[in-house]
Parts: sequence; C-alpha cells; structure tokens
Amino acid sequence: MIKVRAMIVVDSLATHPDVTSQVVDLAWYEWGIGLPDEEYQCWLRLAAEDARLNSTFSAGFVALDGNVPVGVVQLHESDIKEMNDRSPWVCGMIVKPDYRSRGIGRRLLGALESFAISKGVERLWVFTESATTFYEKCGWLPYAHVIHDGESGTVLTKQLESQRRCSGICVCPPPSGTL
Ligand SMILES: CC(C)(COP(=O)(O)OP(=O)(O)OC[C@H]1O[C@@H](n2cnc3c(N)ncnc32)[C@H](O)[C@@H]1OP(=O)(O)O)[C@@H](O)C(=O)NCCC(=O)NCCS
Repeated sequence: MIKVRAMIVVDSLATHPDVTSQVVDLAWYEWGIGLPDEEYQCWLRLAAEDARLNSTFSAGFVALDGNVPVGVVQLHESDIKEMNDRSPWVCGMIVKPDYRSRGIGRRLLGALESFAISKGVERLWVFTESATTFYEKCGWLPYAHVIHDGESGTVLTKQLESQRRCSGICVCPPPSGTL
C-alpha cells in the first residue's frame, strides 16, 4: 500500500484566526503544563493579537494539515528581558512532535523571515534552550549564552539584509563583533 502524506500549508495566522486557540494549545502542551491559568490567558491574548494585527512586532505563521494546525511561530517585539535593547524576536516556534523532521520548522521560519524582510527588519533574534542546531541549519548564528528565567540557553541572530544582498554569488563579510 502506498502511503500519501497530506500537503502541509504554511500561512499567516491572520489568514486563519479561527485556529488561534489551537496554536496556543500546541505551545501549551510543550511549555505550559504546570503554569498558572493566567499565563495561558496571556498566551491566548498575544496570539489573538498576532492573528489580528500582523504588524512588524506582532505576527504569527501557522502550518496546517487540512484545517488542523501542526506548527506555529510568532514574531514579537521583545522576548527576554536581559536583551530588551534587541528587537524583534522569534517566539514560540513549535512543530507538533509527529510532524517534526519534515521541513515544517524551516518553512515556518522562512515565512516569518520573508515577512520581516517585507517590513524592513534587518536583524532577527531568538532565544532557545534546545533548538540551537535547528536555527544554525536555517542560517542563524549563535550570539550569546544566557540564563533566562533560570533556564540556560542560547541567543542566536540572523541578519536578513545580508541574506537578501547575497542571493547571488558573492562573498559575505564576516559577522562583526558589534551586532
Ligand atoms: C525545533 C523544531 C521547531 C524544528 O522543527 P522541524 O519541523 O522538526 O524542523 P525541520 O524539519 O524544518 O528541520 C530543519 C533542519 O534542522 C534540523 N533540526 C530540527 N530540529 C532539530 C533539533 N532539535 N536538533 C538538531 N537539529 C534539528 C533538521 O535535522 C533539519 O536539518 P537538515 O536541513 O540538515 O535536514 C521542532 O523540533 C520543535 O518543535 N521542537 C520543540 C520546541 C522547540 O524547542 N522550539 C524551539 C523554541 S525557540
């Protein structure tokens, strides 16, 4: 028997506001268990904002298997208070466990990066505890090790403008010490 995999569509959350609570649930099952209900309500408010505004500092992208969200990523103005002088941040990147390693995370991140470029963003930031290699494979560079909310992780960054300039054959300058 031939197994046919359904096509996964990656789209703006603003185009699918009806799945907002489902994408929050995806994140909640990964990171939220044990947190107070107010936190869940806060995540819901932020995601609803992402679905409504789609501004440079509030946007979401969702991977859909039919009508069911199987991955999400958000773009927010800030994330970790230790680096509030940097912005904007990739937040809440998650792919449902049984959909991982199929390129969905890379597609979600690509959609967010294209959106950020269209809004004139030159550099993106992300904090991750365990997905450093994923971001590196997507062209991000480690910037610093940070303890955030008691958890050790890595801040990575990606310069979007240089990516656009280097779409042909060229030699990129090395990342400077003052990012
Ligand atoms: C990190 C995550 C979003 C990646 O999603 P995914 O759909 O599995 O990623 P992709 O299939 O697009 O992988 C792209 C590349 O990254 C690699 N990769 C993905 N996750 C990885 C991981 N956890 N560790 C090492 N490499 C990883 C893949 O092997 C692939 O490499 P390749 O291009 O050489 O084949 C997913 O594993 C996840 O939801 N993890 C739990 C939540 C999390 O940690 N999120 C990050 C918060 S900042």
